[in-house]
Amino acid sequence: MKVGVLGSGDVAKALAAGFLKHGHEVMMGSRTPARLREWASGHPKASIGGFAEAAAFGEALVLAVKGKAAAEALRLAGAANLTGKLVMDATNPIEDAPPAKGVLKFFTSLDQSLMEQLQNEFTGAHFVKAFNSVGNAMFVNPQFKGGKPTMFICGNSEAAKQSASRILDEFGWEVADMGGAEAARAIEPLCMLWCIPGFLRNQWTHAFKLLL
Ligand SMILES: NC(=O)c1ccc[n+]([C@@H]2O[C@H](COP(=O)([O-])OP(=O)(O)OC[C@H]3O[C@@H](n4cnc5c(N)ncnc54)[C@H](OP(=O)(O)O)[C@@H]3O)[C@@H](O)[C@H]2O)c1
Repeated sequence: MKVGVLGSGDVAKALAAGFLKHGHEVMMGSRTPARLREWASGHPKASIGGFAEAAAFGEALVLAVKGKAAAEALRLAGAANLTGKLVMDATNPIEDAPPAKGVLKFFTSLDQSLMEQLQNEFTGAHFVKAFNSVGNAMFVNPQFKGGKPTMFICGNSEAAKQSASRILDEFGWEVADMGGAEAARAIEPLCMLWCIPGFLRNQWTHAFKLLL
């Protein structure tokens, strides 16, 4: 599959490396592609470009930018380049403020998630929340004593969620589908929960598992 990864930070790089590892074609997108040159020199099979180029390249897309800039990054990518495509949304609506006793502050409310805002603006894209509630070091085939970790996903398109689930299976995750885009109101705050042991005790190597 051709995957456009929108972002130039650690999350974008980790996911791009995962897609390459599993034999997909990757183009990473940034406002300043030059900042990806060093990374690309170590990953010669990946290409780099602007947000719009990466979005046009991808049959499926990954959104891996700062939460406050997510809508702006997608505007730069161009709505037409998103239409009909899976957009795996790894973003979190983290406020520009320090955590309070280890608890991150969000700029959204529990009545509307960031992913719903994005879905409302870019109606032709098929957003699927994924990869937002675990550290990027564990995105790709993580090994835990407790077995396979669970990735909570949601989105309005069943077909897009099936595509995302196939990718997550390759990346070594079991998938728990929580329903439509509204479920991102619950999945995005899992990031807050995941980060608490990190901020309080410098523990950053866990993941969630749903027991049945
Ligand atoms: N860090 C983790 O382990 C982790 C885990 C799960 C989820 N997340 C979430 O994943 C996302 C990416 O995190 P990150 O730590 O890799 O990177 P980040 O520092 O949160 O974001 C960097 C990206 O945001 C883009 N950006 C910033 N301001 C922008 C603007 N005004 N307009 C357009 N784009 C803008 C940058 O674009 P340019 O390339 O153009 O500079 C860059 O690609 C975040 O939403 C984060 O909450 C992080």
